[in-house]
Amino acid sequence: YFAQRELLAVDEAQGILNQAWSPIGGITFYPGPWGDERRSVMHDPEIAAIAERVGATPAQVMLAWHLQQGRSAIPKSVNPARIAENFAAGEVELDAAALAAIDGLDRGVRNGPDPDAPREEFFNRLIPEA
Ligand SMILES: NC(=O)c1ccc[n+]([C@@H]2O[C@H](COP(=O)([O-])OP(=O)(O)OC[C@H]3O[C@@H](n4cnc5c(N)ncnc54)[C@H](OP(=O)(O)O)[C@@H]3O)[C@@H](O)[C@H]2O)c1
Repeated sequence: YFAQRELLAVDEAQGILNQAWSPIGGITFYPGPWGDERRSVMHDPEIAAIAERVGATPAQVMLAWHLQQGRSAIPKSVNPARIAENFAAGEVELDAAALAAIDGLDRGVRNGPDPDAPREEFFNRLIPEA
């Protein structure tokens, strides 16, 4: 839902490999202090339809989308079956239409913290010498 295409293009031109942050959208469904205006990408109907078509899970579809577009992705799971499922995403093949459909889900709305916005609570701290 927040692909930052312009940034990806600039990085690609510079030969910089991008790594997805929250690559299967954990930030769209983690419990937290968010209101909750978020929509879980794990339950997106478009991703579910692609997953059904290619015989994969929504998480695998998202990971295959990253990998086929040349991004690194490190999904987090504490569940061995899901870790195996996520590794197997390397075998999922999405066609150009599926890749474009997922690109089209971009909402341009950041869910996590904005790195350009200073967060004093994290950075404006005195660290005692000893
Ligand atoms: N979110 C942040 O604040 C943050 C900050 C810094 C860095 N990162 C980096 O981003 C990466 C992970 O991002 P993330 O933890 O935000 O989110 P994520 O990897 O996009 O999603 C993790 C969530 O998805 C669930 N999950 C994993 N595999 C699944 C599957 N196959 N089917 C259904 N659910 C599945 C996990 O639950 P289970 O564990 O129960 O499977 C967890 O709730 C890491 O590399 C992390 O270091 C994130």
